[in-house]
Amino acid sequence: MKTTISQVNKFVGQEVTIGAWLANKRSSGKIAFLQLRDGTGFIQGVVVKSDVDEGVFQTAKSLSQESSMYVTGKVQEDSRSPFGFELLVTNVEVIQEAVDYPITPKEHGTEFLMDNRHLWLRSRRQHAVMKIRNEIIRATYEFFNENGFVKVDPPILTGSSPEGTTELFKTKYFEEDAFLSQSGQLYMEAAAMALGKVFSFGPTFRAEKSKTRRHLIEFWMIEPEMAFYEFEDSLKVQEEYVAHIVQSVLKNCSLELERLGRDTSKLEKITVPFPRISYDDAIKFLHEQGFEDIEWGDDFGAPHETAIADHFDKPVFITHYPTKIKPFYMQPAPDRDDVVLCADMIAPEGYGEIIGGSERIHDFELMKKQIEKHNLPLEAYNWYLDLSKYGSVPHSGFGLGLERTVAWISGVEHVRETIPFPRLLNRLYP
Ligand code: 4AD
Ligand code: MG
Repeated sequence: MKTTISQVNKFVGQEVTIGAWLANKRSSGKIAFLQLRDGTGFIQGVVVKSDVDEGVFQTAKSLSQESSMYVTGKVQEDSRSPFGFELLVTNVEVIQEAVDYPITPKEHGTEFLMDNRHLWLRSRRQHAVMKIRNEIIRATYEFFNENGFVKVDPPILTGSSPEGTTELFKTKYFEEDAFLSQSGQLYMEAAAMALGKVFSFGPTFRAEKSKTRRHLIEFWMIEPEMAFYEFEDSLKVQEEYVAHIVQSVLKNCSLELERLGRDTSKLEKITVPFPRISYDDAIKFLHEQGFEDIEWGDDFGAPHETAIADHFDKPVFITHYPTKIKPFYMQPAPDRDDVVLCADMIAPEGYGEIIGGSERIHDFELMKKQIEKHNLPLEAYNWYLDLSKYGSVPHSGFGLGLERTVAWISGVEHVRETIPFPRLLNRLYP
């Protein structure tokens, strides 16, 4: 019976055949232990010399790392392995022998591993991170579908930009200039006026000269936008969404979390509601913590965010940032116009901002004034201005950065391991 490692629990006591690669191997004169992987999981194959044909044992013993094969054997329960099963091998049919696979079981430097990203993805660790990423994506669709959102796909090639004009990738669009999307937000606002509650999930691009553990040049963002939702309504969606994905990973990726050595007790605490702190109070808090150089009106750097986040064991919303450090579209607070109705969600354990969001301006005159004040070309934003002209309503939305969220939930230090092929400041290959 041909099957996969993930399905062997259905075949205990029976003989199965699995297409697999050799991840690692130990052997003596009498027995060989093959660490097998097939994409769906990892299993140990045991080859006992006295139980198989001599040729099979010799083949198993001489297999090199990453050789591909069809392996046949009897499925047995194995209480010592975290996976719970092993394969008592009866036959090995080699498909291709891999010669000199570059990533050996010893330690390698990061640059070497990044140069070999196309192969590094096969490792147990990268396999676990990619499975967690996939679970977060699955749980995202589940959450928004169950809550009445419609998935809408904004364009990647755009003529206007929501997050400022300095970090844009410019390209030619026949005779015109075009930009790779930094955020689908403005289009999602248009979609919310047509469909009510919408979300997007797609790649976004930022020509940011930042070389940190939190920055990618190309990253994936989930952007919900909701008509008739005010600031507080949006925060509720955000905390419920983030709690849902964390609990889904805990439930469906326990093997992966264990493989990564993740402290799951920290994730178990991630339930609604999440704490909120205003920007004003955050500044006071930072002063009390000895950050003397930061002043009201400054944006927070990573050390500031981490100091605030360390004070809580759940993600924290920092709300009501100064108007002058936020984009043009954010709704001013009702009682004062030096701050806006926005919130960043900061993940615990130093992973930084995972969500940026706000209530949007829906007053035509104010929106026009803001576009002018920010020196944005009116021609490019005329379509967007139409939204606050024809049946404008209060609305809110946010963007969650997928890779930072994967890094936090998996407990991996750097976002470069959270996307299959990271685009970084110094890296466009492989
Ligand atoms: O805070 P940002 O810039 O917000 C927006 O783009 C809004 N237009 C979203 C919206 O309201 N629809 O980005 C949102 C999130 C950040 O919180 C962060 O998680 C992630 O996107 N992000 C990055 N992730 C990796 N690398 C980068 N260079 C990132 N820049 C932002
Ligand atoms: Mg932000």
